[in-house]
Amino acid sequence: MIMRVLLFLLVWIFAAVPLSASDRTLTLSFGSVPRVYTAAEFLAHPKAVPLTIPKDVSYHREMTYRAVPLLALLGDVSRIALNTIEARASDGFVSQIPLELVSRGATGGSVAWIAVENPTKPWPNLPDRRESGGPFYLVWEHPKRSNVGSEQWPFALAALTGVDDPVRRWPRLAVDAGLAADHPARRGQALFIKNCLPCHRLSGAGVAEMGPDLGQPMPVTHYFTAAGLRALIRDPKSVRTWPRQQMPAFGADDLTDADIDAIVAYLTVLGERH
Ligand code: HEC
Repeated sequence: MIMRVLLFLLVWIFAAVPLSASDRTLTLSFGSVPRVYTAAEFLAHPKAVPLTIPKDVSYHREMTYRAVPLLALLGDVSRIALNTIEARASDGFVSQIPLELVSRGATGGSVAWIAVENPTKPWPNLPDRRESGGPFYLVWEHPKRSNVGSEQWPFALAALTGVDDPVRRWPRLAVDAGLAADHPARRGQALFIKNCLPCHRLSGAGVAEMGPDLGQPMPVTHYFTAAGLRALIRDPKSVRTWPRQQMPAFGADDLTDADIDAIVAYLTVLGERH
């Protein structure tokens, strides 16, 4: 009996120990067999080089990393049948990154890299957080070239998976086919998928676990005014403040006023389905 209690206690203690950053792995699944990498394997990768990012989106300053080009890890992208990379972070953030955005890096577009934290030389903590962006972080060289957005830089990256594009996976994300071709909600749909879906589900569509679902139980446009929504997207702190607030402000570099209007139009159109 004593042995069983001891055993139980041991199992309980080990299960309760959180994984430290150096134990965390990155899983790449683009074919039949997923590949699991440790940080040590990445640091020793033949294609790993020092990389300086002048304006890092998460650290808000210049950063130098050891990094491996994402295209080198993917191999021959033309063999990948699916058109989207689902980039999943360990905190519930999940960005749907078009494969084409990554492959364009070979022909003059923005270049995606996987930066790897060296456990013996840890990165600083992220602003307003108690941890660094490691051990794996997807960063972009020349992000302006392909208009890479702030939500396409997932830190604390745990997995990259080849998937179908979001509208085919979750048809309810699509505005109705009959909507006017120049209706702003059409542009809003693409902007929502790029900027909001990484943290918010919409009426069950999506896989993020950071922020609330914006479509159910009650669509956000049923209790927010358009002006309130616009203000919240531009700067959540202009609407409400509290210590654990997590939604980022979208500056004019990320979304123009017209982009924000398009996202609000999209949420309004989808809210009318209820
Ligand atoms: C990095 C994650 C993240 C991104 C990206 C993000 N949000 Fe949020 N959002 C949150 C979180 C978390 C909350 C809950 C409140 C908080 O902690 O700030 C929230 C709250 C909200 C709310 C308030 C909901 C309510 O009922 O109070 C709205 C509306 C909203 N977000 C809309 C958006 C839109 C639209 C976008 C895209 C332009 C977006 N968010 C992008 C994380 C995010």
